[in-house]
Amino acid sequence: MLIGWFRRVVIHTTARSLEVFPSVIEVDQKGLLTTKMKHYEVEILDAKTKEKLCFLDKVEPNATIGEIKSMFHRTHPQWYPARQSIRLDPKGKSLKDEDVLQHLPVGTTATFYFRDLGAQISWVTVFLTEYTGPLVIYLLFYFRVPFIYAPKYDFTTSKHWVVHLACMCHSFHYVKRLLETLFVHRFSHGTMPLRNIFKNCTYYWGFAAWMAYYINHPLYTPPIYGEQQIRLALILFLFCQIGNFSIHIALRNLRPPGSKTRKIPYPTKNPFTWIFLLVSCPNYTYELGSWLGFTLMTQCLPVAFFTLVGFIQMTVWAKGKHRSYLKEFRDYPPLRSPILPFVL
Ligand SMILES: NC(=O)c1ccc[n+]([C@@H]2O[C@H](COP(=O)([O-])OP(=O)(O)OC[C@H]3O[C@@H](n4cnc5c(N)ncnc54)[C@H](OP(=O)(O)O)[C@@H]3O)[C@@H](O)[C@H]2O)c1
Repeated sequence: MLIGWFRRVVIHTTARSLEVFPSVIEVDQKGLLTTKMKHYEVEILDAKTKEKLCFLDKVEPNATIGEIKSMFHRTHPQWYPARQSIRLDPKGKSLKDEDVLQHLPVGTTATFYFRDLGAQISWVTVFLTEYTGPLVIYLLFYFRVPFIYAPKYDFTTSKHWVVHLACMCHSFHYVKRLLETLFVHRFSHGTMPLRNIFKNCTYYWGFAAWMAYYINHPLYTPPIYGEQQIRLALILFLFCQIGNFSIHIALRNLRPPGSKTRKIPYPTKNPFTWIFLLVSCPNYTYELGSWLGFTLMTQCLPVAFFTLVGFIQMTVWAKGKHRSYLKEFRDYPPLRSPILPFVL
């Protein structure tokens, strides 16, 4: 009797101490204690209406959010995993696909909230569309295809060599971006909402048309300080293009193929990456420098405006990335600024 009481106490205490893990303590036929992993029940509610959308029985404790999304997709084929946002709180942040059920602060009946992110499109498609547009649009203006300028200028070429140089620089920039998208970047997100493509294309294509119209206009006047200004601008442009490419390579090398890991970027042997000592997002710094160079080269107001808008946008992103680095890595170098050393 004493042994039976002792066994019950041990079972009870062990079960209590293992409460954090969803295990069941059982006594087998030989009277030995065995633990068996207990399955979870998962319910998914609509984040807006709180309506129950799905109930999943016997979900493995080590199931990931990615796997739960796939299970949910089986019952709701219209919501494929990439368009699902699964959260612990209706208004909270989306959980990551890699998050494991048993490591989340949920009971053995886990409640998640679902939001539909809308139709998705792959990042690569978005970038390719965004960058092919400006490349083609600019060339239409450069070659002065009909219906842009007066008919007498159709398929004529500018007498100013800076116009040809500007076309080469503009095309080089977008060909570089296309090749980087295809062969350099290792994105962590597979997709983005389809509506973003319309917004992004309006921005890039619209600005390309506006800039190209003025630079290739038959009445365009070259920069005020002539050859000297153009040479200086070209040096700045090329320097920043190489810098931007170097940073993209450095970021690529931080992430092993197929992974989504994020690390602190540090300067490498390439001197163009030494700017990492002072800046969190030097690819944006170099991007800004490239467009400043292009502004100086063309001395064209729409180009200056594009540079300013791009700078504002990149500053917002750089500040967000800088904050994430500080939050994620306790040993993050304190000297760094988001985009401009010591300033911003
Ligand atoms: N002219 C303009 O208005 C303008 C505006 C924005 C960008 N751009 C150009 O477009 C380029 C790309 O822009 P972006 O916003 O995509 O740049 P980004 O966020 O810095 O990302 C570039 C690539 O590096 C990866 N990456 C970034 N930080 C990382 C880290 N700590 N560890 C591992 N991988 C990391 C990113 O992966 P994730 O998928 O995880 O982010 C992405 O594949 C810019 O450098 C710039 O040249 C131009």
